[in-house]
Amino acid sequence: MSRQHLTPLFTGVRNHAEKQPIQFHIPGHKQGKGMDPEFRQFIGENALSIDLINIEPLDDLHHPHGIIKEAQELAAEAFGADHTFFSVQGTSGAIMTMIMSVCGPGDKIIVPRNVHKSIMSAIIFSGATPIFIHPEIDPVLGISHGITTDSVEKALDSHPDAKGLLVINPTYFGIAGNLKKIVEIAHSYDVPVLVDEAHGVHIHFHNQLPISAMQAGADMAATSVHKLGGSMTQSSILNVKEGLISPKRVQSIISMLTTTSTSYLLLSSLDVARKQLATKGEQLISEVITLAETTRARINKIDGLTCVGDEILGTKATFDIDPTKLIISVRDLGISGHEVEIWLREHYSIEVEMSDLYNILCIVTLGDTHEKLDILIDALSQLASDKANTTKTNQRSSVYVPNIPTLALSPRDAFYAETEVVPFHESAGRIIAEFIMVYPPGIPILIPGEIVTEENLSYIEENLKNDLPVQGPEDATFQSLRVIKEHRAIR
Ligand SMILES: Cc1ncc(COP(=O)(O)O)c(C=O)c1O
Repeated sequence: MSRQHLTPLFTGVRNHAEKQPIQFHIPGHKQGKGMDPEFRQFIGENALSIDLINIEPLDDLHHPHGIIKEAQELAAEAFGADHTFFSVQGTSGAIMTMIMSVCGPGDKIIVPRNVHKSIMSAIIFSGATPIFIHPEIDPVLGISHGITTDSVEKALDSHPDAKGLLVINPTYFGIAGNLKKIVEIAHSYDVPVLVDEAHGVHIHFHNQLPISAMQAGADMAATSVHKLGGSMTQSSILNVKEGLISPKRVQSIISMLTTTSTSYLLLSSLDVARKQLATKGEQLISEVITLAETTRARINKIDGLTCVGDEILGTKATFDIDPTKLIISVRDLGISGHEVEIWLREHYSIEVEMSDLYNILCIVTLGDTHEKLDILIDALSQLASDKANTTKTNQRSSVYVPNIPTLALSPRDAFYAETEVVPFHESAGRIIAEFIMVYPPGIPILIPGEIVTEENLSYIEENLKNDLPVQGPEDATFQSLRVIKEHRAIR
């Protein structure tokens, strides 16, 4: 009989708290009694009673041998992995673990350029050399998709000594490549496939969704249970298949990157999220898909808005789609996605997942209802009619995404090089020493080691002008950028 209805970690922690032991250990708030009363009342006694630490009865994430081990084993079974590691450092921590488990200084890793900043951080920490693959850019939506099997084949043909291939699957926008084929190609070179599955925890549990990393035979997957799977923010998992990867090395690296004060609230929430997905996921996700598909059809009836669906499929990078992501293109309204984000906040108290120059992204999950989506439709209809007669501020006829800059130095060398600060407008042609990205989604416009171009500068300015959250440089006002110091000959 399946054991997936069990929650050994949550149950163990809860039973421990119910015994009300007299605590002479951290956390010093001791079930909230030593805490500011306003916060204690707000957050509630139950939550505070399980805000515990790795005392003997509660196991230890760094050396799991009890309830955490059992919970991780159940998760591995549910996700079709050989081993599952819980992360309280988000998917960022799991991603860094994946990369640092396979790469050391000087090793090559093949990655798409539109990666999340945690991937570039791990490349800097490990000293690996990134071999970039151009993601496919959607000319209509102005977003990056995944990588194609052709580009993977080419990259591996030129770099068969790579220590790993990293794939984002599905993307932030819910588009998946042909992961199974990509895995087959990489494995024919004995190269392990590491999947950034931040936006795909639910796909494993429903056959109408793209296949998951573990189903595709990938070697590791960093999966955000907290984003779409019902656990608490910051809790993620790292799934591992044995063969090309050593689980012992993964355990050592994840431990090196993890706090010693691991939150049992986060860990318990992973345990219960896994139970829900494994025992009821299919039925719950079916409802989510129906809700999202109905909403998509209704949005497409509103003049000036489009919400792409299956018609996006059929290119080499768009092999499958997660319909629960609503990418709503607002370009035809003549305003930016960010203006729409603000309008929705001010008029309907709606908060979207993200906006960019051309789109807003709304995610439909296990937590949504018909009523909430009705409000979204009302708001979008009102917006479209309000904007139909006003001046258009975003009149680009086509979307604009800058070319990928040239990498002149390894990101690590650039990060640790001697640097200087130059005015923003004088930085073109210089090698940048810092990251610049729009967050969300956190995909770098520039990474340390790349040569800044005028095109990058205007793209940054356009994002800033539209109030999009451009971040990264030390100088948050963007008056200056930090670049690698040039040593000129002394006259
Ligand atoms: C594609 C992608 N990968 C990784 C991450 C990192 O996930 P987390 O926030 O759980 O660290 C994100 C977060 O936004 C993401 O969008």
